[in-house]
Amino acid sequence: PGHANLVIVANRLPVDQVREPDGSTSWRRSPGGLVSALEPVMRIHDGAWIGWPGVTSEQAGDLQPFQLDGLSLVPIGLSADEVEGFYEGFSNATLWPLYHDVVAKPEFHREWWESYVAVNRRFAERAAELAAPGATVWVHDYQLQLVPAMVRELRPDLKIGFFLHIPFPPTELFGQLPWRRQILEGLLGADLVGFQLSGGAHNFVRLVKQRVGHHTEGNDVHLPDGRVVRAQAFPISIDVAAFEELAGSESVEQRATEIRAALGNPRKVLLGIDRLDYTKGIYPRLRAYSELVADGHFDVHDSVFIQVATPSRERVEQYRLLRDDVDRLVGRINGDLGEIGYPAISYLHSSYPQHEMAALYRVADIMVVTPYRDGMNLVAKEYVACRLDDDGALVLSEFTGAAAEFRQAWQVNPYDIDGMKAAILAAANATEDELTRRMTAMRRNLRGNDVNHWAASFLAAL
Ligand code: G6P
Repeated sequence: PGHANLVIVANRLPVDQVREPDGSTSWRRSPGGLVSALEPVMRIHDGAWIGWPGVTSEQAGDLQPFQLDGLSLVPIGLSADEVEGFYEGFSNATLWPLYHDVVAKPEFHREWWESYVAVNRRFAERAAELAAPGATVWVHDYQLQLVPAMVRELRPDLKIGFFLHIPFPPTELFGQLPWRRQILEGLLGADLVGFQLSGGAHNFVRLVKQRVGHHTEGNDVHLPDGRVVRAQAFPISIDVAAFEELAGSESVEQRATEIRAALGNPRKVLLGIDRLDYTKGIYPRLRAYSELVADGHFDVHDSVFIQVATPSRERVEQYRLLRDDVDRLVGRINGDLGEIGYPAISYLHSSYPQHEMAALYRVADIMVVTPYRDGMNLVAKEYVACRLDDDGALVLSEFTGAAAEFRQAWQVNPYDIDGMKAAILAAANATEDELTRRMTAMRRNLRGNDVNHWAASFLAAL
């Protein structure tokens, strides 16, 4: 056994290794909701974080555990073949689309599955080495669903928790997976399996009963050896106080003023911020806005839609196709509707530090979040946290986890372009009182459940 009392196991470390032009290496914050949520938790609990540094082992060379910024990080290398089979293949071309309502068609390949098993085993072995006797191991997300059972086999003395950051699919869709039983048994290695919403927990328990045949009682699964596994919802959140502080800082304020000036001080700024992912509904959102411009409801001289699309999983085919589609759409919209110095859409294919995001949230009058399916969506929460004056409007897809908490958002169905147009227009024309009423309620709700509360509830239940 090792010395860590809390071991976090996630596919990604909170930082990616980047190689500078002069050949030296440095670390940059990695993308996505999981990392933004877990980082503040780790600072409080002082555990070790096992994960992949985002480059192949061939590129990274020898990887040793290291300390960064007060965090204790344990890198796991993935070979180029494993990046292809385990990460791009099984995790992101099989499980990701399958778990997001098959918005894209999942691909099933046996070689990818074998790579998934092998990489999960390596993560499990590392966790078993690092954990102190009786320690807690907390495994995260769809890339590592076999790890709980593998860790239990190596170290039955440990407390094992698992949290799924993305939706857990309906039983009918999960049933497509040739390895459905192995995945369920992998998860059942945990003492507590956490989901974003109670629907996910319910789907899981139903599947375990149906496909594995264990006895279930409410949210509890009773295993033949007497062990009980509990499935439960723990809606994840953000570090609200940290975002408020950032948003209120002088430098963010100043940057927000600069951005507004660079845009020509428009009357209305609409904003989308997403990883460039086909689940996020970027395409229908831009179409809805462009139709509103074409219909004369917005004028490019005093309105702009800023769409930030963070590069993601760029070697996976569906992501490449999406990028081409969005590029083409933005080009067409700006070509048709823009004027000299006034694009309809300001499109940024890039990733930005939190400081810049906070400035954008402050600038945006309307935040447009329209995924076809999303486990939670922390961008919606970040926007709400940054609206220190209780103003601004949130247009939010009903198919996000966040919609369960933000009842006062303008909720939309991303498949319904006319409905989205009506909601964006209603948000744009809302009175100040109405905006304040809605934002105050959402901010109150958000403060009642920040990420520390989320982690503390999970660990207490575990
Ligand atoms: C989502 C997933 C995370 C993942 C992140 C970024 O938030 O739930 O597990 O880390 O996207 O995706 P990537 O493939 O770059 O790690």
